[in-house]
Amino acid sequence: MSQKGRPEGEYRSAQHEGSPVSFRRLSDIDVRGKRVLVRADLNVPQDDAGRITDDTRIRASVPGIRDALARGAAVMVTSHLGRPTEGEWKPGDSLAPIATRLGELLGRDVLLIRDWVDGGAWHDALRPGDLVLLENCRINKGEKKDDDALARKMAVLCDVYVNDAFGTAHRAEATTHGIARHAPIACAGPLMAAELDALSRALASPARPLVAIVAGSKVSTKLTILRALAARVDTLVVGGGIANTFILADGARIGKSLAEPDLVGEAQAILAQFPGKVPIPVDVVCAKAFAADAKAAVKAVGEVADDDLILDIGPRTAETLAGIVANAGTIVWNGPVGVFEFDAFAGGTRALAGAVAASRAFSIAGGGDTIAAINKFGVADRIGYISTAGGAFLEFLEGKTLPAVAILEQRAAS
Ligand code: 3PG
Ligand code: MG
Repeated sequence: MSQKGRPEGEYRSAQHEGSPVSFRRLSDIDVRGKRVLVRADLNVPQDDAGRITDDTRIRASVPGIRDALARGAAVMVTSHLGRPTEGEWKPGDSLAPIATRLGELLGRDVLLIRDWVDGGAWHDALRPGDLVLLENCRINKGEKKDDDALARKMAVLCDVYVNDAFGTAHRAEATTHGIARHAPIACAGPLMAAELDALSRALASPARPLVAIVAGSKVSTKLTILRALAARVDTLVVGGGIANTFILADGARIGKSLAEPDLVGEAQAILAQFPGKVPIPVDVVCAKAFAADAKAAVKAVGEVADDDLILDIGPRTAETLAGIVANAGTIVWNGPVGVFEFDAFAGGTRALAGAVAASRAFSIAGGGDTIAAINKFGVADRIGYISTAGGAFLEFLEGKTLPAVAILEQRAAS
């Protein structure tokens, strides 16, 4: 139970471990007859013609919207889309395609309101059961810098502010942060709560062994995550360009492979500080060119030639890692271990995806490439939790405070 005697989920300020402070949840709040403003993350990928290529985030936002509507609220939803120039309205920045898709998912028309901040008293006409989408919030001047005057204007539109945008929780912007300070009630939506519950289950009190898989092209973008996780996990599996830098750190050659020689010292420091925690690949799949039709050759790590590119982990390494994953109690996964988009170099990521799926461990995966791999290998329904977030997921793993979560906690504590 929370301080205020309401039932709550597992999330208990993993950001400030040990603190009993948590946040209010939409499910705890009587929204009948109230105007509810939901900040969702409907920032979905689109093709050149503006067609939505993956609607996962829209589908994930539906339960919170449905719940508020079903309990008699008038619901306003907003989101950013891309990174538009503030103060300029361009058709390509519009949430119009999202209004259409949301309408299809909900089986009703969704009205899109363009000038929702300075557009007069339109919200007075809202009635229980009404649903409107508020145009791309990043078009409003001051959104990105969390302008307080803008946040106040937004806050007066609603009785209850709901942040259900975990994917944007690492941004302190007017719709993710400032508005939560000023709205009469500020709470987390069900997606936000589920994401934080899953992440804190994986990191704050994990079933052991805790295994993290951190892969991708660069050590530099994930160095703080590698350091933070190395201290907490039982095994830190590295892959991709990150693994290449660790292979260098371990004294072997990697030919022309992607790596960051500048960070070999950092990798060596992690290996020295956490002996045995970071398995180094013993074999790899190499090619002479980065291409789908390049000829693949499995080599022991010591046999990589000067003109080789390492594009995947080898089968012996994959088998070892699959064994580690099979015995895990908890798995956190970010990043494919090879160039899984090319079939000849997909074996390592496929083997790992299969092992994560088969494992009895609680598994959580996040990041666009990881989810693309999970979908490609058809294991999505056997992953414990798949995050809708990219940057926010990584910042949580780094142990950073997410400003959009912190403000909800502050509101709950005051
Ligand atoms: C994302 O897709 O990472 C989130 O929607 C946040 O978007 P941003 O990186 O433009 O802030
Ligand atoms: Mg981003």
